[in-house]
Amino acid sequence: MCGIVAVTGYKKALPILINGLEKLEYRGYDSSGIAIINSETNSITCNKAEGKLKNLISNLNDQNIPGTVGIGHTRWATHGKPELKNAHPHTDSAGTIAVVQNGIIENFQDLKNKLEKEGISFNSDTDTEVIPHLIERELNTLSKLNLENNGSTLLVAVRNVISDLEGSYALAVLWAEAPTSLVVARRQAPLIIGLGEGEFICASDTPAIANFTNIILPMEDEEIALLTPLGIEIYDSNNERQYRNPVSLKVSEQIMDKMNFKHYMLKEIYDQPGTAKNWLENYLIKNLENGQYQIKYPFDTKFLKSIERIEIIACGTSKHAAMVGSFLLEQFAGIPANVFYASEFRYSPPPLLPNTLTIGVTQSGETADTIAALDMEIKRRSSIDDKKFKPNLIAITNRKESSIGRQIPNIIDICAGIEVGVAATKTFFAQLLSFYGLAIKFAHIKCSRSSNEIDKLITELLKLPPIIEDLLEKHNKSSEKLAHDFFNIKDVIFLGRGINYPIALEGALKLKEISYIHAAGYPAGEMKHGPIALLDKKVPVISIASSGEVFDKVISNAQEAKARNSYLIGIAPEINGTEIFDYLMQIPSSNEWISPLLNIIPLQLLSYHIAAHRGLDVDQPRNLAKSVTVE
Ligand code: G6P
Repeated sequence: MCGIVAVTGYKKALPILINGLEKLEYRGYDSSGIAIINSETNSITCNKAEGKLKNLISNLNDQNIPGTVGIGHTRWATHGKPELKNAHPHTDSAGTIAVVQNGIIENFQDLKNKLEKEGISFNSDTDTEVIPHLIERELNTLSKLNLENNGSTLLVAVRNVISDLEGSYALAVLWAEAPTSLVVARRQAPLIIGLGEGEFICASDTPAIANFTNIILPMEDEEIALLTPLGIEIYDSNNERQYRNPVSLKVSEQIMDKMNFKHYMLKEIYDQPGTAKNWLENYLIKNLENGQYQIKYPFDTKFLKSIERIEIIACGTSKHAAMVGSFLLEQFAGIPANVFYASEFRYSPPPLLPNTLTIGVTQSGETADTIAALDMEIKRRSSIDDKKFKPNLIAITNRKESSIGRQIPNIIDICAGIEVGVAATKTFFAQLLSFYGLAIKFAHIKCSRSSNEIDKLITELLKLPPIIEDLLEKHNKSSEKLAHDFFNIKDVIFLGRGINYPIALEGALKLKEISYIHAAGYPAGEMKHGPIALLDKKVPVISIASSGEVFDKVISNAQEAKARNSYLIGIAPEINGTEIFDYLMQIPSSNEWISPLLNIIPLQLLSYHIAAHRGLDVDQPRNLAKSVTVE
């Protein structure tokens, strides 16, 4: 979603803001802007540009805006088209107050109507623009009480204004009359303060802070803070001053390096052997007494014994990982499991059942729907006075310090390192691994599998890093070649069955997200019930056919497509039956349980190369954002 960065201190604000925005651009790239308190004129200098951040940078064209206090924003449009007039920062009528915001002010229309009646005119279609006008009005009221024009007064004004706002937001405010002060506030949208020496930076996410300091203080929900070079004051929603110790940023949260790759996405696809190695080293621990491996998650797992069913809540790619997870938990570990779109769960949750484990899956840890759905589940379970219904929670995330990290005590940190490409690749892979770990744990606790079966799966996991390396080696060039033939297609169908059905969905999502080619994933057996009507020689079918339980069935379903003249691409081992494919992206023969971890690799590469061949912005696809902090 939108990215916010704000700074106060002694260093020039402009380069800090631009550097921060560069690191936040994955959150939205419809427009960007900055506002700085110009230290020569003591007024606010604002500069904005439509489109990518590079347009703002070229607008600024080496402009040397003097000033050490400023705010910046990179936008993902919600209210108002991605046009210049809707770019942040937004200001009051006199241009003395500037605001950047990430979120949605749900009651903005009512507020706007009232302000318009008072004679205020608006320059944008955004919900945000009401905020500077409301602050202006509040400051006028406060001035009648003879309060000084300083940061504390701005803090009071912003606090009064946000009490009238409905929705979720993170915001940062500048006031020319309090030239060293910044006021920041959050409700259900992330905001983190970085503590430098005599200077502070506040941003929506840690990468914007990492170049500045590695000491951070994540703001809690509903907090408001006043930042000046002299210090920070944080208050909760009851206006109680808060005192907490800062924490250090992990090294992996600080590194954003494309190395020699053309795009972050390709680099992140290539990170996956390392991701596997890292995950295995972190969570698969050898028992020195009996030489057996065990899954060791960093929380007390005794409570899992009483679990009788599992509900998993997620969005987008994380939902696809959750679907593989639910398959493993049910079919390998024998525990009933269901997956829900977070956005659906919020408004149609299933009836409460006892002894349920709720798992939230989100790489960013900030997805608004996922956080809100989990919040709702925690509340409705906590309100029942029966311990069988109490919330049992696990979060699977790549960002331990995120909102979900603060919401849920039991965190499986997938340890994938920062993922910059908007389309998730290595985080998906690491989420999958985390579900393998959970399935193994449950199979062990519930004795639903023999030690032999569990050891076999663990052995397959341990073999992963070199296998993934080989797959990358084998398929990078071949998928580039295939992309050359297919970059102009309009529709693609992805088929998979069983544990690989979610991989078909994920393959289709990856292609859609970055190449803008229409793609749909189906359970292979379902194709004949509708999607088959789409097939002809212009619609290729990508079929995932791993050896195992459903191999023959998938091959029969592929035959049905071939009979309709579709070009068939197989993601399969080279075994009897796969000669049906016009093109085989060969996968080593493996245990079927492990096959999703292998099959996803050529699909990621193919999507990447098709999008790159079309000359598209692979890392920042249109209309998307990596972290969606609005409902
Ligand atoms: C956005 C991204 C998707 C991502 C989804 C869920 O829509 O564009 O790539 O899968 O959010 O994100 P999360 O951080 O919750 O995994």
